Amino acid sequence: MTATPAPHPALRPGSLGPLDLPNRLLVAPMTRCSARPDGVPTEAMADYYAEFAAGGFGLVVTEGIYPDAAYSQGYLNQPGLATEEHVAGWRAVTDRVHAAGGRIVGQLMHAGALSQGNPHREDTLAPSVVLPLGEMMPAYGGSGPWQLPREATAEDIEEVVDGFVAAAGNAAAAGFDGVEVHGANGYLLDQFLTEYTNQRTDEYGGSTADRVRLTAEVVERIAAEVPEGFVVGVRVSQTKVNDVVYRWSGGAEDVVVIAQALAKAGADYLHIASEGRSWFDTARLADGTTVTGLARETSGLPVVANGGMHDVDQAERVLVAEHADFLAVGHGALANPDLPHRWAAGRELATFDAAMLRPDVTLATSNRWRQAG
Ligand SMILES: Cc1cc2nc3c(=O)[nH]c(=O)nc-3n(C[C@H](O)[C@H](O)[C@H](O)COP(=O)(O)O)c2cc1C
Repeated sequence: MTATPAPHPALRPGSLGPLDLPNRLLVAPMTRCSARPDGVPTEAMADYYAEFAAGGFGLVVTEGIYPDAAYSQGYLNQPGLATEEHVAGWRAVTDRVHAAGGRIVGQLMHAGALSQGNPHREDTLAPSVVLPLGEMMPAYGGSGPWQLPREATAEDIEEVVDGFVAAAGNAAAAGFDGVEVHGANGYLLDQFLTEYTNQRTDEYGGSTADRVRLTAEVVERIAAEVPEGFVVGVRVSQTKVNDVVYRWSGGAEDVVVIAQALAKAGADYLHIASEGRSWFDTARLADGTTVTGLARETSGLPVVANGGMHDVDQAERVLVAEHADFLAVGHGALANPDLPHRWAAGRELATFDAAMLRPDVTLATSNRWRQAG
């Protein structure tokens, strides 16, 4: 008689605050620049998100959605949550995901200085007048140098926070199970958290506690206003789309300050991203602990780890050694929308093919790639 192998720890149920999930596997947020020009989600987007739900992912986190019709939009054909039409469009997506047995959280994203396509404004907004590193990303519809942003006034900051709060209300109206505040990867909230993009001398600049204040305020205001049972998560990262080697200069101390500030603000979970790098690379701290593990221990919140989590052995290690509670899968989910079902059945994963996102990250390009395969 052969013993049945124990199921992978990622296939055990768990809770993200008020939201019970059948397993520990999340689809990582991935921008696809496939909405209508006015930001209304399309049927192709509903098909795309429903496929992950049907494939067994416990939770789908959407691509970054722009919250306001002012400075927040980052890409042309990015979806929004700022108008009634956006709400109606997303309702069709959330219905499809729920009908497929899944759950869906909308990621709210303000691009700040890293906006490379925004029909609502000609200029860009940032904590300080600092030219972003690198150049715009052609796969997301941009090209050439970034704009020099203008410094956000106190009034601008209030408008940003109000925009996030209104969009969270719209997300609830559109049938989402929650929202994830995008505080990662170099976008506006991360520009506030990062030393070299935040040179402010008001309460939003200076120490780590001051630089994380805006993200915490956004979380706190949203948490205070959304309906009971609606999840409010927040994503942070050290690396950025335009700076993959950046690390928090305060090391473990920064991790604790950031994690505790966001927990105090009322976040239901912390999602720690590894843009452009693996979890192992971005999470290791000098003393052998990990960013995700330390954030988990000091915040008391469930932590989502990210970065190469389709590696079945790494996924097991991270959960068993309590470096995190949940795993967000990006490239591995694109190649395997049914990854949880494959792991449950002991089936091999398909390898991600970069051609799926070339020359751009749109669903049309990926669908063409699938049809050709
Ligand atoms: C096409 C694409 C678009 C992405 N867009 C977003 C986004 O909108 N918001 C976000 O937080 N991260 C975004 N990311 C980063 C992923 O969520 C994830 O952190 C990254 O791919 C690393 O995880 P992986 O190794 O599992 O792919 C994107 C990644 C890809 C490949």
